Amino acid sequence: MLYPEELIEEVRIRNDIIEVVSSYVKLERKGRRYFGLCPFHNEKSPSFCIEPAKQFFYCFGCNKGGSVIQFIMNIEHLDFLDALKFLADRAGIALPEPEDAGEKEKSKLRMQILDINKEAARFFFATLASKNGTGAQGYLRRRGLTEKTIKQFGLGLAPGGWNELTKALLDKGTEKGLLLSSGLSLETKNGELIDRFRDRVMFPIFDIRGNIVGFGGRVIDQTQPKYMNSPDTPVYNKSRELYGLNFARQSKSKKLLIVEGYMDVISLHQAGIDYAVASLGTALTQSQAWILKKYAEEVIISYDSDSAGQAATLRGLDILEKAGCNIRVLLIPDGKDPDDYIKNNGPEKFKNLVDRAISLLDYKIRIEKNMYNLDTIDDKLKLLNSIADILAAHDNSIERELYTKNYAQQYGISLESLNSEVQKRRKKQISKSKEYSLRKNTAVRRELSGIPQIDSRYGDLEYLLLVMLCNENRFFGKVSDEYGLDAYMDKGAKKIAEKLYNRLTQSKNCVLAELLNVLEPKEASYMVHIAETNSDLEDTDKAIQQVLNKLEILKLEDLQKQTIERIKNEHDGIIRRQLGLEFSKRAERLAELKRLA
Ligand code: GTP
Ligand code: MN
Repeated sequence: MLYPEELIEEVRIRNDIIEVVSSYVKLERKGRRYFGLCPFHNEKSPSFCIEPAKQFFYCFGCNKGGSVIQFIMNIEHLDFLDALKFLADRAGIALPEPEDAGEKEKSKLRMQILDINKEAARFFFATLASKNGTGAQGYLRRRGLTEKTIKQFGLGLAPGGWNELTKALLDKGTEKGLLLSSGLSLETKNGELIDRFRDRVMFPIFDIRGNIVGFGGRVIDQTQPKYMNSPDTPVYNKSRELYGLNFARQSKSKKLLIVEGYMDVISLHQAGIDYAVASLGTALTQSQAWILKKYAEEVIISYDSDSAGQAATLRGLDILEKAGCNIRVLLIPDGKDPDDYIKNNGPEKFKNLVDRAISLLDYKIRIEKNMYNLDTIDDKLKLLNSIADILAAHDNSIERELYTKNYAQQYGISLESLNSEVQKRRKKQISKSKEYSLRKNTAVRRELSGIPQIDSRYGDLEYLLLVMLCNENRFFGKVSDEYGLDAYMDKGAKKIAEKLYNRLTQSKNCVLAELLNVLEPKEASYMVHIAETNSDLEDTDKAIQQVLNKLEILKLEDLQKQTIERIKNEHDGIIRRQLGLEFSKRAERLAELKRLA
């Protein structure tokens, strides 16, 4: 472990799981637990829950579980250390530099790449300002960008030669390996380094903190490809960044507007719509959606209205919806992109479009409507059916009711009949989703294949014993006497037992959420699964005794089987009689235990 255990535990404790999860999932209190829609799988009714007293989460649908640390690992797609850093930042705890040599090396490399990216951005900026940049300057001006905007976004120009940036950086003493891992240079077959970006207008890509993590480069003429982007590097992952978020997150607006291109973001910001961001030429990803959700109360999506754009919008909407964002769709007349539209119609007109952005439901129904020619009865029926489908899939009941009224009126159908169609579909969906979660629950073991095979007889009992021991550390003496480490038959449980016994032997307390600090995510999920599916065992004193008894029964049964084999093969009469005696003594004990069980 890279950090002292106490420090890890402090980070965990200082991040209340309810507070942390609330910024991703809408939670509702039910009894001692909080429930919400699981952010890790698609579901219609909440099976994701949190135990505030025990500070862990568990989903009865997909069986993911863990402490606040595993939650952040999953939702932010971070490894343990990065999740720990994330939570330390959140709680204002300073983590020392990691001791681990590999980690140190990685963080050094990241710093170095950020440094040469900054150098490169300066170089591109200076090239644009130089007399070699006249053509590119003209291009940017023709596209309506002001000097101030160019400066704000740090736009630049990559010169046309083969290796001008590479040469400049090598001259400054930058190592070859670093130029390659930053993605700024490429290696030719004969081992020479050349510039990745040549003769392109350069758009630095900033992360949230304002570091330059990569670049996009656009040709000034009609050459293909139009854009070239940095590859993924130790500092850049295109599915996690949102272009313009470093500025947009400082906007006074609580909205974020998501568009497709670099140029859209830049002209929107120039026009005073300072809450625009772009997913960089890729389809919107789940991690981008979570980031959007984190920074905005409302997300407005404005993708091209051609059919590719429409498909991208629908996919994006699904992802945003799953992340729990409030979403609206902005439609630009004549299939223009935001940049074109502002250039032709000015900022005010565009702001009007933002105000008139339509709801998710309206958008879905509008698309359906475009698919049908409403002159025939048949088409009209099909449309009404799909409206009922769309309404039925909408979870918010107040909105559903409002929209049902609205559409009934709009399409001249009786409210009653539309309502009954919607209700019919909802009933079906609900019973389907119940079936689904039941089926999934029985598959827990198969899904958690990352942990050692769970012993079909001892496994669950041994895990349960460990969970109970976490709940009631005071039973450690008794449990370790009766069921020492050597007793464990399940490999996975034994591994965890070693860690727990070790802690408790050093007379430290250890609750379950803390034990999870030293477990693999799948082990953590399984422990929490056992804890949550047995959380009705309130009288621990009795419950622990029962588990110990059941384990003893299994052990005795195993011994009895062995003894029978031995008696069969034993020729010495005296030994056989002795074995027989042992057998009947054990049988008595077994009968007694079974009576207690
Ligand atoms: P302009 O054509 O200058 O207005 O650029 P734009 O930003 O409006 O780009 P467009 O709408 O054509 O594309 C949206 C985004 O997709 C761009 O900002 C790029 O991130 C990405 N993209 C577009 N064309 C290419 C390409 O040829 N290659 C790659 N890798 N990405 C592209
Ligand atoms: Mn454009």
